Amino acid sequence: MDTQVASSFEKRFLTDRSIRTAWIPSSELFLLMASKSTVSLLGLEGKVAIITGGAGGIGKSVAMLFVQHGAKVIIADVQDDLSQAVCENIGSSEVISYVHCDVTIDSDVQNVVDMAVSKYGRLDIMFGNAGIPSKSDLTILATEYQDFKRVFDVNVFGVFLCAKHATKVMIPAKKGSIVFTASAAFVTRGNAPHAYVASKHAATKLRYSEIDELRLTIR
Ligand SMILES: NC(=O)c1ccc[n+]([C@@H]2O[C@H](COP(=O)([O-])OP(=O)(O)OC[C@H]3O[C@@H](n4cnc5c(N)ncnc54)[C@H](O)[C@@H]3O)[C@@H](O)[C@H]2O)c1
Repeated sequence: MDTQVASSFEKRFLTDRSIRTAWIPSSELFLLMASKSTVSLLGLEGKVAIITGGAGGIGKSVAMLFVQHGAKVIIADVQDDLSQAVCENIGSSEVISYVHCDVTIDSDVQNVVDMAVSKYGRLDIMFGNAGIPSKSDLTILATEYQDFKRVFDVNVFGVFLCAKHATKVMIPAKKGSIVFTASAAFVTRGNAPHAYVASKHAATKLRYSEIDELRLTIR
């Protein structure tokens, strides 16, 4: 089962033939992370990856996994001290480093992509993982405007900016992988706040739309 998942993951996200954009069900990501032997199939050796939201949670685990399998990683996050500590814990500054990046700020995302290119000369993987939950409860009446907007800013606008700035590098290179962390909230109903569910739907559909464009222009 793990091998099948890893193989399917590799086909969809990590081949070098063209720019790949897609969404990963987080359950699938955990399955992948659960087995060291299966992830050796991912072909990460020498790849340069930006991982947003890499200071903790899933992003930190992905950063560890990527470095473990030979990738160079730049963590893009807003938690400076924590991110620095995570990097020091994982490896040397040659293989993993941190750039402050609020994914809702256009110039921050541009900057982290520029840093990857100036440090390593390329960008192979943009992992738009940074995401926030909604603070509202499950009812529409309790859903606050500011909360809804903030969730969309990070979970949707953030992955849009990551894809936009990554493709500036990947289109000329004619290769690369753009990935973001989706959620089971994309397929389940009624058990997560409206803002979060809607944001994961929007981000997933955005990714499908990008796939349509990039397939036509790159392949
Ligand atoms: N934890 C889960 O159960 C779960 C399930 C499904 C999907 N997800 C998704 O996985 C992703 C990661 O979730 P997690 O549980 O690891 O979260 P987490 O809170 O542990 O980590 C999120 C990271 O994103 C960073 N971040 C937040 N806002 C940011 C911004 N504007 N710019 C840059 N970085 C920012 C945080 O500082 C943090 O390091 C999210 O997109 C989340 O929606 C999580």
